[in-house]
Amino acid sequence: MKINDFKLERYFAKHEFTAKYLLSSSDCDGFAQNHVLWHASEKELSLWEELKLGYTESEGNPLLREAILQFYNQKSIDNVVVASPGELNFVTMNVLLNAGDHVISVSPAYQSLYEVVRSLGCELSYWKPNPQNWEFNTEDFEGLIKENTRLIILNFPHNPTGNYITQQQLDEIVALARKHDILIFSDEMYRKLMISDVEELPPVCDIYEKGISLWGMSKSFGLAGLRIGWLVSQNRDFLKKVIAFKDYLSICSSAPSEVLSTIALNHSDEFILPNVHKIKKNVSLFKEFASAHEIISSFIAPKAGSTAFVKLNIDDSSLEFCDRLVERTGIMTVPAEMFEYEGKYIRVGFGRENFPEVLEVWDRYQRTVGK
Ligand SMILES: Cc1ncc(COP(=O)(O)O)c(C=O)c1O
Repeated sequence: MKINDFKLERYFAKHEFTAKYLLSSSDCDGFAQNHVLWHASEKELSLWEELKLGYTESEGNPLLREAILQFYNQKSIDNVVVASPGELNFVTMNVLLNAGDHVISVSPAYQSLYEVVRSLGCELSYWKPNPQNWEFNTEDFEGLIKENTRLIILNFPHNPTGNYITQQQLDEIVALARKHDILIFSDEMYRKLMISDVEELPPVCDIYEKGISLWGMSKSFGLAGLRIGWLVSQNRDFLKKVIAFKDYLSICSSAPSEVLSTIALNHSDEFILPNVHKIKKNVSLFKEFASAHEIISSFIAPKAGSTAFVKLNIDDSSLEFCDRLVERTGIMTVPAEMFEYEGKYIRVGFGRENFPEVLEVWDRYQRTVGK
């Protein structure tokens, strides 16, 4: 199998650990291991202290899968499979798709959502939002459905725009999927990062018998280093195939990560709420920055999630702008090119504690260069 480079990840690889400031990360700051252990009950702490570092179950530690179930209407841990989020995305596409299948994916999007599909020789159509307000239109979506459409790929809260659809829109999509017998893979990595007062959507696996939901510890919980994610689906045959495919990849997850994830899930408010608070605070700071600087052509604040896709008022390309900004100020930002999106945009990530400091550095720089 041949697959194109993951542009966004290659760009991060170039700058993430050398740039002084990160302004485009989609994850929230990583919590300290002690923050997790500090919230553990006595019983949970003993899981950690008595942990054996052998292989664990391919489908995921049963205690972790129990902890995951509290966020879904599914009643059995057999409806849950654990691996890293990126791996689960890769495996899902490989298990579900054959060359020639047609797939509809949201776009712009985290590249692996559509690149794995491409690598399998599938036909792709993109469901794009209106760039004036980043709203997704369900009629546009319906127009993309074909005879051979096998899979719909959703991602709400949406990375990078921070947009969200309504319950009515989701219901319409599910109804169309059911009518045309199409599977839905719903990447819900930013679930529960509710930044505005929009209504929270249910996970797709709970409302559609052919729906698959992906979530994990990386974004909402601020625990990306654990590398733990999970799929939940009513379709157990599909999940069995995922487990079998994993035998060629990670086989099972890291035992310490599974225990730490279990603890964090059982005390989720201690992780998610501080992140929501931080994102909201940083979004309002960015609103002020955007109105003070001509370089920001338009800023549509996120409804949910941790990112926004911000239009720039620049003469050169977004990539040239980002390369220059990191070189001159040490601030790393991600240009639209990393999302294969035309136009002058950068992604801004709001989940970092030092966001105000980074904005000050950018503010000083902008004042010296003008526009
Ligand atoms: C929409 C989306 N899905 C999946 C992932 C992958 O998550 P992880 O890096 O934890 O594997 C990301 C990471 O940025 C993402 O933004």
